[in-house]
Amino acid sequence: MGVCGYLTVSWKCLVVLTFRLLFLLPAGLPVRSQGDSQPDNKVMENITVRQGETVFLTCPQGDVVTHTAWLNRSSILYAGEDKWSVDPRVSLVTFSQEEFTIKIEDVDTSDEGQYVCAVQTSSRPRTTSVHVLVLVPPQIINLSKDLVVNEGADVTLMCQAGGKPDPSLSWQLISPSGDLGSEEEVLEIPSITRQKAGTYICTAINDIGTDIQTVEITVNYAPSVSEGRDVGVTLGQKGVLECEADAMPEASFEWYRDDRRILNGFDGIEIEDLGHLSKLMFFNVSESDYGNFTCIAINTLGSSNTTFLLYGPRTVQDGNNGALGMHTHTYNCVVFVLFLLFLLRV
Ligand SMILES: *[C@@H]1O[C@H](CO)[C@@H](O)[C@H](O)[C@H]1NC(C)=O
Ligand SMILES: *[C@@H]1O[C@H](CO)[C@@H](O)[C@H](O)[C@H]1NC(C)=O
Ligand SMILES: *[C@@H]1O[C@H](CO)[C@@H](O)[C@H](O)[C@H]1NC(C)=O
Ligand SMILES: *[C@@H]1O[C@H](CO)[C@@H](O)[C@H](O)[C@H]1NC(C)=O
Ligand SMILES: *[C@@H]1O[C@H](CO)[C@@H](O)[C@H](O)[C@H]1NC(C)=O
Ligand SMILES: *[C@@H]1O[C@H](CO)[C@@H](O)[C@H](O)[C@H]1NC(C)=O
Repeated sequence: MGVCGYLTVSWKCLVVLTFRLLFLLPAGLPVRSQGDSQPDNKVMENITVRQGETVFLTCPQGDVVTHTAWLNRSSILYAGEDKWSVDPRVSLVTFSQEEFTIKIEDVDTSDEGQYVCAVQTSSRPRTTSVHVLVLVPPQIINLSKDLVVNEGADVTLMCQAGGKPDPSLSWQLISPSGDLGSEEEVLEIPSITRQKAGTYICTAINDIGTDIQTVEITVNYAPSVSEGRDVGVTLGQKGVLECEADAMPEASFEWYRDDRRILNGFDGIEIEDLGHLSKLMFFNVSESDYGNFTCIAINTLGSSNTTFLLYGPRTVQDGNNGALGMHTHTYNCVVFVLFLLFLLRV
């Protein structure tokens, strides 16, 4: 600003002053009084350019032009064909009777602002100003890290993005329902449940672009095993008890015969663990195998158990359902039908 700021707050003042000092006075042209040297000022339409692109600044000339320059704020970029700027991104494109064009490559936000072309003709100075607006696509700069929490914890996710104009932010959980979300940079999830575990997407959008980042939330919870289904197996056959557990992190399984731990490979019994499922397999069921088996699923947050009954033909007779119950029913039916047939024939 300097001296000029004292006189007026306008850039026009700067331009005129600078211009006169640099060109008019050394050239020995008469400096007119304030009144009749009012420059002819033209404002061109704003130029909008993306960060990293090249902007061309074009200024119409005329045949009576004696001096001309392109200025960035108060500093001269080009005075005619002479480059004043030390910035390598600035270069001359055209310098002719008709036009004076320079370009700025790899434009950044700091280049935003007013650029002025000053032209001195034999009569009066003339300026053309143009406002360069630099747009920046959104970029997410601050994002929550992936999280592992226990069910019931309060979770806060943060997503901050830069860009011009300011991007708008939103959060969305990738899920079948997909309804959980927020239109703000902060997403609060009070007392999180296992259904709200998953991949959260932060989207930053402005007029010229989009940036998307994801955050993974893992919700840990204690196992819960599904209720054991009793299994009937005849002697000498293969039998399998299946224990299924829902748990995060994945549960490890233990099998018990009454109170005794069953180890894999002993007594013709094998245990096969398949992540959320454990199988207790009998390859040749014997009389002594019949009885109660308990499966316990354990993880860092707790445990859950269920008991199965492995039964044979005799065990079934004690109960009133299962395969033999069916047979009895079928038998009764057959008797009834035979009785009916007998009645009809008579
Ligand atoms: C040009 O940009 C400036 C600065 O953002 C703004 O004040 C002015 O209204 C804009 N002019 C037009 C014509 O859009
Ligand atoms: C224009 O001026 C500003 C402020 O001094 C500077 O940061 C920017 O790099 C300049 N741009 C060019 C193209 O000279
Ligand atoms: C990111 O956000 C956190 C929480 O608001 C803040 O403490 C930190 O300073 C931010 N980091 C940056 C680089 O903005
Ligand atoms: C099953 O066990 C019985 C008694 O231990 C044995 O006699 C029979 O051969 C076994 N069957 C098979 C297929 O291993
Ligand atoms: C198995 O457990 C049930 C219920 O706990 C019990 O009523 C039953 O007597 C048990 N059976 C055997 C063979 O231990
Ligand atoms: C099985 O679970 C019940 C509660 O559901 C618990 O009382 C019992 O102690 C558990 N048994 C074992 C062996 O963990």
